[in-house]
Amino acid sequence: MSTQIILPRMLQVGENASHATPNILASLGCRHPLIITDKMMVQLGYAEKIQAVLAEQDMPADIFDDTVPEPTVASIQAGVKRIQEGDYDSIIALGGGSPIDSAKAMSILGKFGGEMRDYKFPRVVTEAGLPIIAIPTTAGTGSEVTKVTIITDEKTDEKMLCMGIGFMPVAALVDYTLTLSLPARITADTGIDALTHAMEAYVSKKASLYSDSQALEAMRLIAPNLRRVYHDGSDKKAREEMMLGSTLAGVAFSNASVALVHGMSRPIGAAFHVPHGLSNAMLLPTVTEYSIPAAVERYADCARAMGVATEQDDNASANKKLLAELRALNDELKVPTPEQFGIEREAYMGLLDTMAEQALASGSPNNNPRVPSADDLIKLYKQLWW
Ligand SMILES: [Fe+2]
Repeated sequence: MSTQIILPRMLQVGENASHATPNILASLGCRHPLIITDKMMVQLGYAEKIQAVLAEQDMPADIFDDTVPEPTVASIQAGVKRIQEGDYDSIIALGGGSPIDSAKAMSILGKFGGEMRDYKFPRVVTEAGLPIIAIPTTAGTGSEVTKVTIITDEKTDEKMLCMGIGFMPVAALVDYTLTLSLPARITADTGIDALTHAMEAYVSKKASLYSDSQALEAMRLIAPNLRRVYHDGSDKKAREEMMLGSTLAGVAFSNASVALVHGMSRPIGAAFHVPHGLSNAMLLPTVTEYSIPAAVERYADCARAMGVATEQDDNASANKKLLAELRALNDELKVPTPEQFGIEREAYMGLLDTMAEQALASGSPNNNPRVPSADDLIKLYKQLWW
């Protein structure tokens, strides 16, 4: 059996990779991009810096900075309008996962019209929208190398999963220097998200030798550095390894899919506005414990790749160490419980059925080594509270 692997056409990786933006645009035959980003990137001066570098090469770029965290249908529409009113030949997606996910949706809707809902899974989007050059500033969602975007329908609080080669950026500029000023909380949340991508890709039923290779290397790069970047954001070597690890984890899960943690995480995020990485972090130890019996060896491999177990550990002891590490990591990186985050118990318990339903509908739980029933999901959601 063979596996199809989908990647960006170009990757520029390493210190100051983002400085290559004009060259990359030129090589695509583009010269009038719209920079899609958020207010933080404008405040930090990152968006203007790219605009200035492009202006020097006679490439006029406009900035759209109205993307929102956990992008909604309405926030996408604003960008689509901007694209349709302009004569842009490309999009530069600058920021964390949300601006990049927003840009993917805007690229397709801006060119082909329609409603976001028309493009949600199980439809596979193969149309080519405006070419996207993705510049991630977190390590990370991996969105710069995935063919997936998640847009929330704010009317139904559903996180719509949209996928297909149409959402894959043509180029990704992976520049760790853009993460050096990232606050500790975002560093932790996005870092655990990246670790979750690597672990889920590795235990996914859709895993292949190719995705395994990327996922294991991602775990080797991410796991030893999570605490370092959380405590000292200016640690360049740790930031660089996290950034590459995040991109490799993105390649792994884009080609092997995520699994139960992500399936359960999206409904929590949509209902209670918990940032994506944080809801994953809340779930990761509990879901890993639930899933280990169905993939003992795979999870033990994760523990070894992460450096928390050695070749001398048998699978059972490696998995014990893995669970201990995931819990210790959440403690040290101050990941709150749903209650500590401020979610009301009654509201949470009242939504258990809906969250379980939405998790199953996303398809991700089916990729998990242990496939849960709706009742299992409700039990797992409850476990997060006790
Ligand atoms: Fe994720």
